[in-house]
Amino acid sequence: MSDPFQDVDAAGADFVANVVKVLETRAAEPVMVEIVEAYLDHADFPEGGLHIEIGAGSGAVTRRIAARAGNGQAIGTDPSEGLIAAAAELGRDIANLSFETADGTALRFDDASVDTVVMHTVLSHVTAPEALLAEAFRVLKPGGKLIICDADFEKTSIGIAAGDPMQACAIYFVENFVTDKYLVGKLRALVRAAGLAVEHFGITPRVITEGAGAMSWVGIGGADMVAKGLISADLHKALIAEHDRRMAEGSFYGFQPFATLVAQKPG
Ligand SMILES: C[S@@+](CC[C@H](N)C(=O)[O-])C[C@H]1O[C@@H](n2cnc3c(N)ncnc32)[C@H](O)[C@@H]1O
Repeated sequence: MSDPFQDVDAAGADFVANVVKVLETRAAEPVMVEIVEAYLDHADFPEGGLHIEIGAGSGAVTRRIAARAGNGQAIGTDPSEGLIAAAAELGRDIANLSFETADGTALRFDDASVDTVVMHTVLSHVTAPEALLAEAFRVLKPGGKLIICDADFEKTSIGIAAGDPMQACAIYFVENFVTDKYLVGKLRALVRAAGLAVEHFGITPRVITEGAGAMSWVGIGGADMVAKGLISADLHKALIAEHDRRMAEGSFYGFQPFATLVAQKPG
């Protein structure tokens, strides 16, 4: 089945609005802030540097890159016009930040012109990660850094018992809203094959015991099951109520490993 993140606009305005909400919610989780700030520590931010995010979505990570860039520029790119419009609005007050519509396989930047390329939960949503990695290699300066962060979706878990319906929501989401749930395991080989030297590869657990981070699976995944006639709207409501009940009584437990890879273009 095709992953709607491959063409967010085609999935409709409601989906775009929900994706903005989900991405901004996830980006604000303390563990995600920690992950992003830790990987940005690996980047160099030279005077007047150029730093781009490929597949920027609503721009939460690009805003953090801009905050580090000093008098350099941060540019977020994404194929979705709807997401780029939302990102531009959310980042409108930041002087060294801009957004533009572009597919990650065909960027407008010159060869060897970019200091840092970031891809945050993008490669697990594309059919040919090699093509995005080749484009990142092309635009990076020799010595420039490629930073990839992605979820190990295959190990996503929000169940607390065998047959737990919460886990069914997570499985449905991974099977229908992710292109390659095994991407993380292949990442180092893919990056090396693109010609970059891997400097760092590590995993940080994203543990969800509060907040709305797991609603992407129960809310968006569940809504898709209703739309496809697989479950009733009443059951979806009940699943959301169960999510909310566990959150309220402090028994919700979600787990998703996040990989960070940092690589350098030789030169
Ligand atoms: C899960 S979102 C991640 C957004 C953002 N990086 C974040 O983490 O908040 C995946 C993003 O990849 C984008 N995307 C999908 N196919 C792409 C491609 N071929 N090139 C660049 N971005 C792509 C989608 O439009 C979407 O914004």
